[in-house]
Amino acid sequence: MMLDTVDMDGIVVIGEGEKDEAPMLYNGERVGNGRGPQVDVAVDPLEGTRLTAMGRPGAVAVIACSPRGTMYNPYDIFYMEKIAVGPAARGMIDLNAPVAWNIAQVARAKGIAVEEVTVIILDRDRNTEIADQVRAAGARIKFITDGDAPAAVSAAIPGSGVDMMLGIGGSTEGVIAAVALKCVGGDFQGRLWPRHDDDRELAARRGLDVNQVLLLENLVRGDDCMFAASGVTTGELLRGVEYVAGGAVSESLVMRSRSGTVRRIRTEHHWRKLQGINATVN
Ligand code: FBP
Repeated sequence: MMLDTVDMDGIVVIGEGEKDEAPMLYNGERVGNGRGPQVDVAVDPLEGTRLTAMGRPGAVAVIACSPRGTMYNPYDIFYMEKIAVGPAARGMIDLNAPVAWNIAQVARAKGIAVEEVTVIILDRDRNTEIADQVRAAGARIKFITDGDAPAAVSAAIPGSGVDMMLGIGGSTEGVIAAVALKCVGGDFQGRLWPRHDDDRELAARRGLDVNQVLLLENLVRGDDCMFAASGVTTGELLRGVEYVAGGAVSESLVMRSRSGTVRRIRTEHHWRKLQGINATVN
């Protein structure tokens, strides 16, 4: 991601630096050329590292922005319990309520039977109990090995085959998904998920309430946020990069909450010409 040339004065509120021990995009890092609007940035340059390495579907590069000071900062509490739904079920979910109740709400909102509801869940031991409750409710499960941010967004995309996302995944991915769902008029709730007492102590020191259900408005305040994602490997949300002779084709999604505009962009990249431009720039 070439953020240093973008017209913005951004601060990375949540990056992947600390959790993944990556060398850049740390929380608090300044990004952009400093000339544009002052924004908070949440970024995950490769959401689905393992998916990409293994050639599995659903990896994306993703970024979310909102005016400075409006984005929730989970600091170093890396995990969050989440529920995500599309516009039909907006305002009808409750993370404190039983899984079966939330599924029934989605079914009611979409005018389908509970048995027709597909819930996407990150395949982790910590999500076993939630998966059991989904099964007991009678809904369908689609497990994914990684990438719960695009999975959450896919719950709001018609034709994706996904009706809701449930389970515990990364906090970064939670905030990013919340921005996207705000853009498309969907809904999202999260609650920090401390792994152990050290996390609980850390949260207390940071002034974070681990019992609070974080609503969309707590995760990103106001109505002026943006979300962009590009497919790396083909998944429910986006087509991945396709290599063609002399270049590649990519697909991106760009959404803005204020206008409600959703753009799907197919881009053809021509290596020879791009290399010429890069040589001039460098
Ligand atoms: P990265 O590829 O950015 O590391 O994230 C992949 C991911 O599966 C996220 O989609 C998810 O929220 C998080 O990791 C879950 O973390 P963990 O793999 O530690 O359970």
